[in-house]
Amino acid sequence: MTAFPIRNICCIGAGYVGGPTMAVIADRCPQIQVNVVDLNEARIAAWNDLDLSKLPVYEPGLDAVVDRARGRNLTFSTQVDAAIAAADMVFISVNTPTKTKGLGAGQASDLRWVEACARQVAQSAQGHTIVVEKSTLPVRTAEVVRSILEAAQRQAVDGELPISFSVLSNPEFLAEGTAIRDLESPDRVLIGGENPVAIQSLAEIYGHWVPVEKILLTNLWSSELSKLTANAFLAQRISSINSVAALCEHTGADVREVARAIGSDSRIGSKFLEAGPGFGGSCFQKDILNLVYLCRHFGLPDVADYWENVVALNTWQQHRISRLVVQKLFGTVTGKRLALLGFAFKADTNDTREAPAIRIAHDLLEEGAQLAIYDPKVDPQQIAFDLQLAASSPPDVQAGPTRAALSGEGTWWSGTSVADTVAGADAALILTEWHEFRQLDWVALAPLMRQPAWVFDARAVVDPEAVKSSGLMLWRVGDGAV
Ligand code: UDX
Ligand code: ADP
Repeated sequence: MTAFPIRNICCIGAGYVGGPTMAVIADRCPQIQVNVVDLNEARIAAWNDLDLSKLPVYEPGLDAVVDRARGRNLTFSTQVDAAIAAADMVFISVNTPTKTKGLGAGQASDLRWVEACARQVAQSAQGHTIVVEKSTLPVRTAEVVRSILEAAQRQAVDGELPISFSVLSNPEFLAEGTAIRDLESPDRVLIGGENPVAIQSLAEIYGHWVPVEKILLTNLWSSELSKLTANAFLAQRISSINSVAALCEHTGADVREVARAIGSDSRIGSKFLEAGPGFGGSCFQKDILNLVYLCRHFGLPDVADYWENVVALNTWQQHRISRLVVQKLFGTVTGKRLALLGFAFKADTNDTREAPAIRIAHDLLEEGAQLAIYDPKVDPQQIAFDLQLAASSPPDVQAGPTRAALSGEGTWWSGTSVADTVAGADAALILTEWHEFRQLDWVALAPLMRQPAWVFDARAVVDPEAVKSSGLMLWRVGDGAV
C-alpha cells in the first residue's frame, strides 16, 4: 500500500509530550520539516533559547537532540495557523487536565483545548491532512475531533484544492525523566485508525527507527482505551505495593524483600514495585479518574469503584506519611522546621504535577510546620504556585522561632543545598529519589539538625546503617525492621 508522502508535520502543543516527541521525530527523519507551535509565547521562547539549559522541559538527553535538529528541520513558533496550513500531518499534543467544574468535574477530562485545536485545524488545513491524537484522551474523543473536521471537508471549488481529513490515535507512552530513551527505543508504538493509507503514513515515520514488529495497529477505540488501561495497570501496581508497605511496617517485613520475592515470578515481573509516597505526574490519576467516569457513564458502577480505589489508596498513602511525621515528632510539628528533600513527582524531571510532595507539604503546613524545601530542578516559583503560598525568607538558623512559627502559621522557604535545607530542622523528609539524595553524608549533616532529629525516607534511597551511625532516627517506607 502506498502511504501519503509526509513532508511537513505540525505539532500543536509544546509541552512535556509534544516537545520531546517532535524533537526525536525531527532528529530521526531529517527529510521531514517539523514545526511545533504553542499559544504560550514564553514557552516557545524557551524552546528557542540558545542556552540549551533553558529549555522549558528538563529531560536527560533532550538538549542534544534539540541541538541537532533545531534550525535544520525543527522549529518552535506561535504561528499556529501557518504551521497547520503547511502540514500534511498535524499532531494534537495539548493539555487535557481533569475538569474542575461542570458535568464530570473531578473525573472527566477537560477537552476544551482539544476541541479548540480541532476547530483551528478545520479552519486552516489545506488539501488532505492526517490529524493525530497524541494527548491522552478519553475513549471516543476521536469522534469529537472527526465530527468537527468532517464538517469542514469540501470538494474542489473554484480551482482550490479539496479539503479532507483522516483521524488517527497514537497515544504516547513515554515516562518523564526517560522520555528520550522511551522515544528512541519504545516497547511499542500504537496506531489506531480506520484509513489504512493514513495509518501506513504514520507507521512509515516511526519505521525510520522503530522495528516494524513493535508498531501495533488497532482500531481507534482500542488505541484510546489501551492508553488509559496501561496507566491504570501501572498505577494499580504502585497502590498495591504501597498497601503492602504499610503492612510491612507493622509486621517486621521489608517491602523491598517482598517486592523481590514476588517480582521474580515471571508472571508478576519486577518493575513498578517500588513503594514510595504514592504516584504523581500528569497521567496516572487523571487517566484512572477518566476511566472511572467512563465506567459510570456506561452503567458499570462496580468497575468504576474498583479503579477509583487505586486513587483513594494513593491519597491515603500521602496523608499516612504526613500523619506519621507528626506522630514521630511528639504529636506536633507546629513551629518546627522540617526539611523537604525533593519536590518533583519523580527524579530527573522538573515536573511537579500531582507530586506527592504537594499533598504532604500541605498537610504539614496545615499543622503549622516551617518547611525548608529543596529540589535540584524545580523552580521555587513553581513550588509557591503548587502550594498556593508565597515563599518566606529563610529564617536565621541560630535565632529562635520566628513570629510566624510562634503563631502556628505554616510557612516555607526554598533551600539552595541539602546542607542549608536541613540546618536547624527536626526532620528531613526525602520525597523524590534524586541521585544526590542517595549519596548524602549523614554524619556531616546530623550535627546541623536540632536533636533528636529524624530522617523520613519515603523513597528508600538512604543507606539505613549510614543514617543510624550518624545518630539520626530513621523511618523508611515499608521497612518494619528499622
Ligand atoms: C507514566 C507512564 O509510565 C507513561 O507510560 C505514560 O505515558 C505517562 O504516565 P510518568 O508519569 O512520566 O509516566 O512516570 P512514571 O515513571 O510512570 O511514574 C509515575 C509515578 O509513579 C511517579 O510519581 C513515580 O515516582 C511513581 N512510581 C513509579 C512509584 O511510586 N513506584 C514505582 O515502582 C514506579
Ligand atoms: P503535556 O504533558 O500533555 O505535554 P503540557 O501542559 O505540558 O501537557 O503541554 C500542553 C501545551 O499545549 C501547553 O504548552 C499549552 O500552551 C498548549 N496548548 C493548549 N491549547 C493550545 C492551542 N489551542 N493551540 C496551541 N497550543 C495549545
